Amino acid sequence: MADIIDPITGTKEEPQPSGKKSHPKKVRVVPESLRKFREVHAAAEAGGPPDKVEAQRKKGKLTARERIAYLVDEGSFMELGLLMESRCTDFGIKDKHIKGDGVITGFGRIGGRPAAIFSEDFTQLGGSLGRTHADKIAKLMDMAADARCPVIGILDSGGARIQEGVDSLDGYGEIFYRNTKYSGVVPQISVIVGPCAGGAVYSPALTDFVFMVRGMSNMFVTGPEVVKAATGEEVDFETLGGATTHASKSGVCHFVANSEPDCYRQVKELLSFLPQSRFEAAPALETKDPAARKVALMEKLCEVDPRKPYRVNHIVWWLSDDHKFLEVHHDYAKNIVIGFIRLGGQVVGVIANNPAHMAGALDINASDKAARFIRFLNSFNIPILTLVDVPGYWPGVAQEHGGIIRHGAKLLYAYAEATVPKITLVLRKAYGGAYIAMSSKLMGGDINFSLPSAEIAVMGPRGAVEILYSRQIKEAKEEEREALRVKLAKEYSDKFASPYQTASMGSVDEVIEPTEARSRLIAAFRLLADKRRPGEQPRTGNIPL
Ligand code: HXC
Repeated sequence: MADIIDPITGTKEEPQPSGKKSHPKKVRVVPESLRKFREVHAAAEAGGPPDKVEAQRKKGKLTARERIAYLVDEGSFMELGLLMESRCTDFGIKDKHIKGDGVITGFGRIGGRPAAIFSEDFTQLGGSLGRTHADKIAKLMDMAADARCPVIGILDSGGARIQEGVDSLDGYGEIFYRNTKYSGVVPQISVIVGPCAGGAVYSPALTDFVFMVRGMSNMFVTGPEVVKAATGEEVDFETLGGATTHASKSGVCHFVANSEPDCYRQVKELLSFLPQSRFEAAPALETKDPAARKVALMEKLCEVDPRKPYRVNHIVWWLSDDHKFLEVHHDYAKNIVIGFIRLGGQVVGVIANNPAHMAGALDINASDKAARFIRFLNSFNIPILTLVDVPGYWPGVAQEHGGIIRHGAKLLYAYAEATVPKITLVLRKAYGGAYIAMSSKLMGGDINFSLPSAEIAVMGPRGAVEILYSRQIKEAKEEEREALRVKLAKEYSDKFASPYQTASMGSVDEVIEPTEARSRLIAAFRLLADKRRPGEQPRTGNIPL
């Protein structure tokens, strides 16, 4: 006779030895469907085979699931598509079919706010991207755009799954398409924690921010072997496409971490400054740092010899709430500094010339770096603070032939296009075309302040007198020329190299008391708080510049 299972308790009575009259013992029966469900899920959640997981650990890398756990609030991750599999059967891949197809996709909460996350699993077919793998990511991105939350991709993959042929290339197509379609709609972040090779690199390159880990991440279109075969150059993985290379030379990478946990901490910090989508304002935070806090450093700045370098980061720290500044692209184009601060609790994006590097002059890389950041800020309703101390454009044949005209124009375009509140403070020098480019009044600056010591002019006094008085200088006696130059430069400085002529024309709204800079900036941003409502302006994508 078949066992009778109690449907409420899920138990059956154990047969009693014959003749025994004790109370029958009940044993729990796990139904077949539940047993199978648990087995399948446990196998799928384990990831790749144990030897591949072991190999992953030997490389000092976390597993795909551990990575998600580092990112999300505990217990908040909801996985989607765990059981999806590749439909490909070629090249023996049928026997290697794996649940999830080498990528974990789902939604979690980070700092209490929802985020879509995908994490490629290198232990499953090298994290290679087959069509199902790509479909999962594409579906997640569609859902994130509908749910209006950021997308965070954790990439650790051998690239297009070779066995799946063009189907896997098409898979990249559907991801690139969505990277672009949702650019400027929801923030997109890429975390590279392994190889990212071939055309696969273009998905992160289309996203807003790229994180890499020193000694672990690699990005390149063609690897060292192909480079050697094609050009004869010998180069290792790290030099060709490691974190340091992309953070300092190519500009592909915005944030570098020393370890994976450090990387996920940095991702969370970045997210704390970002809105969930273009339909929201960035998250404000209450601060105990008084708006009226005086910044003595600004007074000192007025005493500094205009030719002496200083790190503008210090100015940003002193101005910002609680001295907190999240710098973006720290190692790239150091002549311009960009990043996030809060002023009076509100998130503000900062763009500042940095006299400590190349005297703060604008060049090709600085123009690209700042222009793309401005476009990101504008896409996501983040007001812009521009701190100006710029002697002009960096001269040279390499800059001219490299296209400083074309690249420099992007900066002008980005500022003029941006409709978020824009406040400018001239700290020291603002010369020539670079003065115009750095969010000047007639380029659409809403409120433009200047310190009393600022020099706003067509060019520096020394350069100006060489042109204006070249004949007089030539005709003067050799031993008197330098004194003449100094005298003429002083006259020029007194007339033009101050903020007052510019203020008299209305191109500077106010020359301010230096120590009050923080309170004036906070008041100005508050004044402009309703200038633009989130989501009202037409979408502007954050095209890679
Ligand atoms: C299928 C792949 C794979 C791929 C790795 N694997 N890459 N399977 N397609 N693209 C598999 C390996 O066969 C191996 O399977 C497992 O993943 C782990 O790989 P290993 O080579 O053992 O690991 P490692 O020594 O760490 O080397 C990692 C690697 C190397 C450097 C990424 O695997 C590699 O060079 N892979 C090929 C990279 C590549 O050329 N991809 C195509 C790029 S073109 P087993 O079964 O042995 O465990 C591209 C075009 C995109 O992506 C275009 C978009 C428009």
